[in-house]
Amino acid sequence: MLAVAVLAAGKGTRMKSDLPKVLQPLAGATLVERVLASCRSLRPERQLLIVGHQAERVEASLSAWGGLEFVLQQPQNGTGHAVQQLLEPLADFDGELLVLNGDVPLLREQTIADLLQRHRASGAAVTLLTARLTDPTGYGRVFADAEGQVSAIVEHRDCSEAQRRNTLINAGIYCFDWRRLAAVLPQLRSDNDQGELYLTDSVAMLSPAMHVEVADADEINGINDRLQLAQCEAVIQDRLRCHWMREGVTFVDPGSCTLSDGTRFGRDVVVEPQCHFRGDSVIGDGCRIGPGSLIDNARLADRVEVVYSVVRQATVAEGCAIGPFAQLRPGAELEADCRVGNFVEIKNSHIGSGSKVNHLSYIGDADLGTAVKPWRSAAPASW
Ligand code: UD1
Ligand code: MG
Repeated sequence: MLAVAVLAAGKGTRMKSDLPKVLQPLAGATLVERVLASCRSLRPERQLLIVGHQAERVEASLSAWGGLEFVLQQPQNGTGHAVQQLLEPLADFDGELLVLNGDVPLLREQTIADLLQRHRASGAAVTLLTARLTDPTGYGRVFADAEGQVSAIVEHRDCSEAQRRNTLINAGIYCFDWRRLAAVLPQLRSDNDQGELYLTDSVAMLSPAMHVEVADADEINGINDRLQLAQCEAVIQDRLRCHWMREGVTFVDPGSCTLSDGTRFGRDVVVEPQCHFRGDSVIGDGCRIGPGSLIDNARLADRVEVVYSVVRQATVAEGCAIGPFAQLRPGAELEADCRVGNFVEIKNSHIGSGSKVNHLSYIGDADLGTAVKPWRSAAPASW
């Protein structure tokens, strides 16, 4: 039996934000959504989310997420205190408890699956994920022997100078034998720099306690401030771009473009510099996007060209050309081979195939037929 508990009750003081930390967005999903997604494939029997600071807001943000049990931690007296709140809901539970910090959003599903498998194979009381960092500042340091057996975790702020030189850090991801953890949880003490109950102190009370080092230290980046938020965003963006380049998308200047998890690209798409894709956008085969365009929850069929334009919640059929400097707003529907030119805004309108809206126009709540084009007067030959 497997239960997963995500610690999401903290305020996130270091973010200096009105938004609870776990609701900060990262490439279009919140931190807590990413953490929950990272263990979905394990199909846990129980999924518990520990909420506290702005609990209602955190709960409301996850209303579409099925099967979650919300457990209130009030006040928030540390990660150990957070897990103590599980003693009641998990009173009859027997099995493994996977504890995930709600601010560690880059973990791969496979890494968590491997941790669980190693834990089950060794029969340890707890197995935790660690990493070696060149700059371990801020993280808890893990003291372990050559066999991977952990004797203690000491928080950065509680470390001596000598202890700080240890570069093996605690990722905040643990697999516990729940019964054995439950037996020691009441013994946690708050004799540390923050005066809080630390979950990390339970590790020294459990034996054997083992650790598994991650190969890719980027995965365990914890987010405590906006700098770390930006670093994680960069890692996710890099992963997404690499994925799509391997799938056959050309990025002329990859680092200048941002993507979302939900965006899908066909083959032979060319993305010019400074393009941004948001939400569940779909880009068909052979499209050419950019430079300088924003595609937000839009559907583009094959061979669409977009230059310096914004396309938001709009549908564009094959062979259309958009821009430069056009805006397609929600509900704009273009049939095949339309042309939308400079300084044109289209909202909630249907444009028939082959039609042209070449310049300086607003089209709203309208229905244009097929092959609608600018009226040509009998212009002098010199025009
Ligand atoms: C924690 C670990 C540290 C580890 C680091 C990894 C402890 C004592 N320290 O430190 O060893 O290196 O994560 O990122 O656990 N939370 C609650 N209730 C609380 C306090 C926190 O639910 O009362 C939640 C927070 O919302 C957050 C998570 O627990 O999602 C971690 O809390 P945080 O304060 O960020 O701990 P760190 O200082 O990062
Ligand atoms: Mg943290």
